[in-house]
Amino acid sequence: MRLRNLPHANELVRNHPNFIPEPEEYKGRWSEYFQNTNPIHIEIGSGKGKFITTLAGQNRGINYIALERQVSVLAKLIRKIPGTGLKNLAVVNADAEFLPQFFSPGEINRIYLNFSDPWPKKRHEKRRLTNSRFLEIYKELLINDGMICFKTDNRDFFDYSIEQFELAGYLLVNVIYDLHNSHLVNDNVTTEYEERFIKQGLPIYALTARKDINMPKRPV
Ligand SMILES: C[S@@+](CC[C@H](N)C(=O)[O-])C[C@H]1O[C@@H](n2cnc3c(N)ncnc32)[C@H](O)[C@@H]1O
Repeated sequence: MRLRNLPHANELVRNHPNFIPEPEEYKGRWSEYFQNTNPIHIEIGSGKGKFITTLAGQNRGINYIALERQVSVLAKLIRKIPGTGLKNLAVVNADAEFLPQFFSPGEINRIYLNFSDPWPKKRHEKRRLTNSRFLEIYKELLINDGMICFKTDNRDFFDYSIEQFELAGYLLVNVIYDLHNSHLVNDNVTTEYEERFIKQGLPIYALTARKDINMPKRPV
């Protein structure tokens, strides 16, 4: 995602009450941060934040964590948090590589991957957020029966991801080739990228993968 550098983006993000400067401090203790034991759902690569701020507003009984590595984009997300605040949303500026430093095994109930960068070149395969390297990290951090919800506009990336989820032993619950013409559309919350693709009339591919308690453990 290319964005011109927002002036004061860093300051805006770092001074916001929903921003967590040292997420490693809450590893295994996110319930203390949120002051409840509600389920934890994280979005990796939240971008400008329409999806996660909407969900956090709709579902006060779920704790949401937005993870985004670009601070200039996070500034846009922060601006979507209403003045009245969202107590069930935490915002983290970091790369997904560091997830094991922020969460204990079994601490996450659900992971959202929305329009993740497809990294089409073979030599960049390991950067894809559905590469087996990441799927093994997610597996460790998700509760048994935890879910990963993935959406993309890129058919090659979708097919690749299905293969990776299956190889990593996840159970594919839903595999949808045209989300906006499916029965799941009514419950769907759109992202900024998704809105753009819908306007272009492009199909959105979506899947839900479940951590199977019997799944094999493979080296990362
Ligand atoms: C194509 S954008 C999609 C943004 C948003 N999810 C949407 O659908 O509108 C991908 C976003 O993921 C972020 N991102 C990519 N790789 C990441 C990683 N390894 N860790 C954290 N964020 C990442 C990028 O900075 C970018 O904002």
